[in-house]
Amino acid sequence: MDRAEKGAFITAVIFLGFFFALIVYAAKGLNIDVPTCITDVKPYTQGQVIQHAPDRYEIHYLAKMWYFEPADVEVPVGSTVDIYLTSGDVVHGFQIDGTNVNLMAVPGAISYARVKFEKPGVYHIVCHEYCGIGHQDMTTKIVVKG
Ligand code: CUA
Repeated sequence: MDRAEKGAFITAVIFLGFFFALIVYAAKGLNIDVPTCITDVKPYTQGQVIQHAPDRYEIHYLAKMWYFEPADVEVPVGSTVDIYLTSGDVVHGFQIDGTNVNLMAVPGAISYARVKFEKPGVYHIVCHEYCGIGHQDMTTKIVVKG
């Protein structure tokens, strides 16, 4: 490597380091979490239903080939439900019939939606993103009791 080449190379490395440090500094200063994979962090390793009040629920859905966890949740009519969704493997879809909830389950990320169930009935949930041979059977439901 001749001297000019070496000089250019060292300058480039210094600039790279400087810009990287700047990004890290900016992220820290603005209190932005640099995204990391979170599927191994509880509560996103398993689905669960958390009840906060008689009409306030939080459901953590875990989508996997080819089911949703938890399956068949029951809530009383008039409930407001916060839905958190992630995937344990590939990208899945998540659509609740009769509502405007339409999410994607992405590994390492959490999708969120809030829904209020004003009418009793069975709300079917389907995966609407092709995810393999069991895709068409990947369903669950929320039963809203009147
Ligand atoms: Cu999961 Cu299609």
